[in-house]
Amino acid sequence: MSANKEVKRITTNTLQKMKASGEKITMLTAYDFSFAKIIDGAGIDVILVGDSASNVMAGHETTLPITMDQMIYHAQSVIRGIDRCLVVVDMPFGSYQSNSDIALASAIRIMKETGAHSVKLEGGEEVVESIKRIVSAGIPVMGHLGLTPQSIYKFGTYAVRAKEEDEANKLRIDAKLLEKAGCFAIVLEKIPAELAKEVSKNISIPTIGIGAGGYCDGQVLVMHDMLGINTEFKPRFLRQYLNIHEQATKAVQQYIKDVKSKDFPNENEQY
Ligand code: KIV
Repeated sequence: MSANKEVKRITTNTLQKMKASGEKITMLTAYDFSFAKIIDGAGIDVILVGDSASNVMAGHETTLPITMDQMIYHAQSVIRGIDRCLVVVDMPFGSYQSNSDIALASAIRIMKETGAHSVKLEGGEEVVESIKRIVSAGIPVMGHLGLTPQSIYKFGTYAVRAKEEDEANKLRIDAKLLEKAGCFAIVLEKIPAELAKEVSKNISIPTIGIGAGGYCDGQVLVMHDMLGINTEFKPRFLRQYLNIHEQATKAVQQYIKDVKSKDFPNENEQY
């Protein structure tokens, strides 16, 4: 974090005001210093140090294997790259599900060791007690409902959630519970746009959507997907703004060619 006093920092209160004024909240994931610097410098409101690092940084199939130590390493790197945005850190699988004592200890560890501003955890009623304890300790909590990737083996699929009335109803109730427990925002992942619209209208805290349509108070994407670093993942909700995979491949191929042909380094590129 920089000591630059001129920078107007984004806080959870800023996000609340944005919801009230109808200004959309922007959130992207980041996992390292250099990309955090680019994303923060570009003016993003929130960086999520997502446990999607397990997929896009470590190459795992799911978010389950990433450890607390690894999340802390990513979050520390991100914090060193930012000046103004709010940083949220995902609590990894296993760090909060057992009981609220463990959840609180995990959240405190993340805050102490990373310098981040808040934590995110997945689930509704099942984790409400833990959310209350974490919030009581002064730690802002972002909730996460809908497709919660840490429960992938329960769902068995990454398909859209809450299409059926039972699950939609549970989500409506969970959103209210999370609001009451003191969450400052809720991620809504891969649910029907109409349901996300209704929930966003009925709770006072901001909703941040991913695959949840345009009525959420903000949007989040995984950086590797929107920049086209990872081109294998192409869900309908994703808008890809760059094709870094293609550009980087071409650059590396050119470098190989230049070295092999003895074009690189030339006279101006040596001492
Ligand atoms: O880990 C992550 O990147 C997330 C987003 C998909 C919201 O939780």
